[in-house]
Amino acid sequence: MAKGALPGFRDFYPQEFAERDYLLKHWRDVARRFAFVEYDGPPLEPLDLYTKKSGDEIVGQLYNFTDKGGREISLRPEMTPTFARMVAARANALRKPVRWFSVPQLFRYERQQKGRLREHFQLNVDIVGEVDVAADAELLSVAIEIVRVLGLTQNDVRARISDRRLLRALLATLGVSEEQSGGVFAVIDKIERQPLDISREKLSALGLADGVVERIIGLTGRVSLDGLRAEYGADAAVNECLGELGRYFDCLDALGVGAWAELDLKIVRGLAYYTGIVFELFDAHGEFRAICGGGRYDTLLKSLGGVDLPALGFGMGDVVLGELLRHRGLMPATLAGPDYWVAYSEPAQRAEAMRVSQALRRAGASVEYALRPQQLGRQLKAASAAGAPEAVILREDGTLILKSLASGEERTVRLSEGRLV
Ligand code: HAM
Repeated sequence: MAKGALPGFRDFYPQEFAERDYLLKHWRDVARRFAFVEYDGPPLEPLDLYTKKSGDEIVGQLYNFTDKGGREISLRPEMTPTFARMVAARANALRKPVRWFSVPQLFRYERQQKGRLREHFQLNVDIVGEVDVAADAELLSVAIEIVRVLGLTQNDVRARISDRRLLRALLATLGVSEEQSGGVFAVIDKIERQPLDISREKLSALGLADGVVERIIGLTGRVSLDGLRAEYGADAAVNECLGELGRYFDCLDALGVGAWAELDLKIVRGLAYYTGIVFELFDAHGEFRAICGGGRYDTLLKSLGGVDLPALGFGMGDVVLGELLRHRGLMPATLAGPDYWVAYSEPAQRAEAMRVSQALRRAGASVEYALRPQQLGRQLKAASAAGAPEAVILREDGTLILKSLASGEERTVRLSEGRLV
């Protein structure tokens, strides 16, 4: 028996391909409506593009090898470093803000589980050259518009928003040092996936007093801008971050997506390069992994390409989104049959059937016919099985009949400039 694909890799049979195509078409359509233009980069990159800045989590998942020229190489696990490299290389010539999107296939050696494979397609939408929080809001509204056009509502999907600068400032008011804050971020990032007592133990192990541990746990619960202002607003850095976030939420309201969004300081993001507002989209019941994630990474272009430009973006994968849509009965993609099946009564008419088919095809229709001469009845059965709504039947006397395969209704037609009239 033939062996299957590698674990975590998918075969896209035509039905699965149609579903993938359905998602990717909507991604491209929405990104273009928001005035983003498409780009792509190489699927292989120098290994150090990722080891420098992406963070340990993703570096542990690289598909890397030494190529025949002795270069250290990796399949791309994410698009952001490639994007940052490309933009930095032409930074002066590009119109700002840069608004680009891409739909790469990405590769991560992950443990295969629900929502996680070793390859996936990921829409990346990024903006470079804008510090205003309106850019952060614009990006989130792209992600929300995608799930909205796919049939999901604010009751199905929630945007959970945090700000790494705010969290850092809050931790500073609690006396958490710079060295400790990395560890605290890591614990908060995992807090929903492990028992609370384990998180408490890990925070204590960082050398934090019990009272501080409880305040940190409190921050990861239900919070609001007003609540945080009342409790921590005396601190200037916290107050400034809260002001920025307030303006961000105002922009979300103006864009009509405020009702999808909530402040949630548990959202840290696994990648190391984020510097400001970060967000993830989740299904409202919390049954699936993140649908998408992103945020601001204002220092990445400088460290990868020496160009000091603020940047932000998000990635949305096809795996979780596909699972969620199928679960909700919102995956309408089916295999489309041909528009017409051209059938012929006599074997000798095959050449004429070819001529008719080509004329229809050149005018834009999708057309199939029996490659090997068959009885008319079998041809019409094949036409139905292929999903063609109509058959064009070439009678012995040369007339053309258009037959609806659903109702059986027939009418005589003729071909005029590739159209049946
Ligand atoms: P990420 O959170 O690693 O971010 O991935 C973004 C999304 O891609 C996830 O929310 C998930 O839907 C999907 N995804 C990631 N890994 C897998 C996997 N192994 N299997 C299936 N789906 C997966 C990034 O990659 C950032 N570079 C996104 C970004 C763009 N940030 C700024 N610009």
